[in-house]
Amino acid sequence: MIKKYYLLSPGPTPVPETVLSAAAEPIIHHRTPEFSKIFMEVTEGLKYVFQTKEDVYILAASGTGAMETAVINTLSPGDTVITINGGKFGERWGNICRAYGLDTREIVITWGDDFTPEQLEEEIKKTPGVKAVFTTLSETSTGAIFDIKGFGEVVAATEAILVVDGISGLGATPCYMDEWKIDVLVTGSQKSFMIPPGLAYIAFSPKAWKMVESSKLPKFYFDIKKYRKNLEKQTTPWTPAVSLIIQQKKALDIIKNLGLENLLKHHQVLGDATRAGVKALGLELLAKRPGNILTAVKTPAGVDGNKLVKTMQGKYMAYISNAQDPHKGEFFRIAHLGYMGGFDIITALSALEMTLLDLGYDKFQPGASVAAAEKVLREGWQ
Ligand SMILES: Cc1ncc(COP(=O)(O)O)c(C=O)c1O
Repeated sequence: MIKKYYLLSPGPTPVPETVLSAAAEPIIHHRTPEFSKIFMEVTEGLKYVFQTKEDVYILAASGTGAMETAVINTLSPGDTVITINGGKFGERWGNICRAYGLDTREIVITWGDDFTPEQLEEEIKKTPGVKAVFTTLSETSTGAIFDIKGFGEVVAATEAILVVDGISGLGATPCYMDEWKIDVLVTGSQKSFMIPPGLAYIAFSPKAWKMVESSKLPKFYFDIKKYRKNLEKQTTPWTPAVSLIIQQKKALDIIKNLGLENLLKHHQVLGDATRAGVKALGLELLAKRPGNILTAVKTPAGVDGNKLVKTMQGKYMAYISNAQDPHKGEFFRIAHLGYMGGFDIITALSALEMTLLDLGYDKFQPGASVAAAEKVLREGWQ
């Protein structure tokens, strides 16, 4: 059979054809009015997705670069911070903060569990002088989302800033930077922004800018004040990733035409359909508070989870993701993020059923997941 490749991972995600072909256009020089116009349109489009009045800065980096930018621009050596570690990416906040010598109070949560604003309030009370709270909108390693709006209320009542990793979540699950009192929001291009990997975006609230003014951690390439100064001249401090920014302009046009709320509804329908499908197979979700970005599904008893992922990817070319270390094989992740349509969910569920049958797991009616997902998709199709 011709093996067609189906990208069902939570990043990178599929990219629309019109956006892909934009990368083939001749390179224009970045210190020109022509490029500045596109650059400023992208900046405006990003402000719309971030739902902020503040400027959004474009970095030539993957999402982790924006995470590091958030840390080094707001804090000083020895500052006390709280990091919420509910999986691989929450853990990364702790790793970055420790790398810069910050006094890091890491709250470790069992993968897939929730952590409430009330619990955060308690932790802040126990941590005098805390300067920043680092958390994750959508924990991509587990499929769980946190109550960022609630965290915003709690942190706004203190001297600390709330720093949110929206790398997989922004554009796929509700997140309104200004309204939710988020002080630093970071994200990456290869998720709901529908372009290839390579760009990261970051914005700071007025409260966070005050901390930028007094921050003493070392910085150079990611010194946000350099970006602020250059944005006034409608440009970047260093050579920007010209083609990616042009691609982002095209993808933001798609997002703006659809509208942010419709984009969020779209992810809701895909998330609901995926959850209905896996539940129809008698399978369990990992996350107590699942988001519409990806669905993490526990490997059923008697099935080798690593083999499941290998079969999905190798035989059916359906590129779902395995769980990450130290939980490899215990669950798997089906993404519904970025340029995905309803029928991508049908593909994922059908490949999952065929894989389970290949591995000798037959405790379900063939077609059950597809039928359950179709029902949700038909009702929710906009
Ligand atoms: C929630 C979250 N945070 C951070 C990252 C790291 O981003 P990158 O791999 O683009 O550096 C990812 C990537 O998957 C992510 O999903």
